[in-house]
Amino acid sequence: MSGVIDFEYAYNYEVDTDRMDHKKITFRPFDADSAKDCELMAAWENDLEIRDLFQVFRDEEASKRVSTSAEVSKNYQKSPDNPTEQSFMILLDGEPVGEMNFFLDRKPIMTPKPNTAWAGIVVGEVHARGCGIGRIAMQELEQRAKTAGAKRMELGVFEHNNRAISFYQSLGYREFARLPDYTFANGKKWADIRMIKEFD
Ligand SMILES: CC(C)(COP(=O)(O)OP(=O)(O)OC[C@H]1O[C@@H](n2cnc3c(N)ncnc32)[C@H](O)[C@@H]1OP(=O)(O)O)[C@@H](O)C(=O)NCCC(=O)NCCS
Repeated sequence: MSGVIDFEYAYNYEVDTDRMDHKKITFRPFDADSAKDCELMAAWENDLEIRDLFQVFRDEEASKRVSTSAEVSKNYQKSPDNPTEQSFMILLDGEPVGEMNFFLDRKPIMTPKPNTAWAGIVVGEVHARGCGIGRIAMQELEQRAKTAGAKRMELGVFEHNNRAISFYQSLGYREFARLPDYTFANGKKWADIRMIKEFD
């Protein structure tokens, strides 16, 4: 996709946050053909502190698997012409600190209504977590999903991920389903909590 997605693309915009001493938060498309983007994403996927908070693992064996940048590159290929499936780097003063993505109307969405988006987010750099960046990023993701036609956002959060559960609740998401034994972490299986937020 290099050459098709332009990093200086109009999607960039800036927000200040007091808690980050007015550092700038911007967003740009994730580039699945960029070695740097894919290596960073693979590093976040392999980070023992967070890896089982945002990736589904079938069992203990699977939870030990190491992600490679080549796999990330394959998994993150998106059509730049498809506005209903997008991923973005979250930048703090121009440096990537996380990734967020949405897509519309396909698995694993459970909501049986059209125009439902699915959200994913990871603030991968530890220094960037708990500073208000995730909140700004999710609000931005919601805006982008709305622009792509979404009327609501669904997401899944593992029942052991208390920080993310509070995070989504504080943004207006509410639980509507619980899928038991969904993922493996810390020696056992945990449920996936499905949350929803209607945009209107
Ligand atoms: C979950 C995550 C996206 C939140 O982003 P963040 O930048 O750390 O969160 P913010 O600083 O914007 O916090 C926003 C709100 O979330 C809640 N929150 C954040 N950290 C929290 C914590 N440690 N404990 C409880 N609530 C917390 C609070 O309500 C907070 O609002 P407040 O600061 O006004 O009190 C981020 O921590 C992360 O990527 N974690 C690892 C991967 C992950 O869990 N991804 C989500 C998978 S479903």
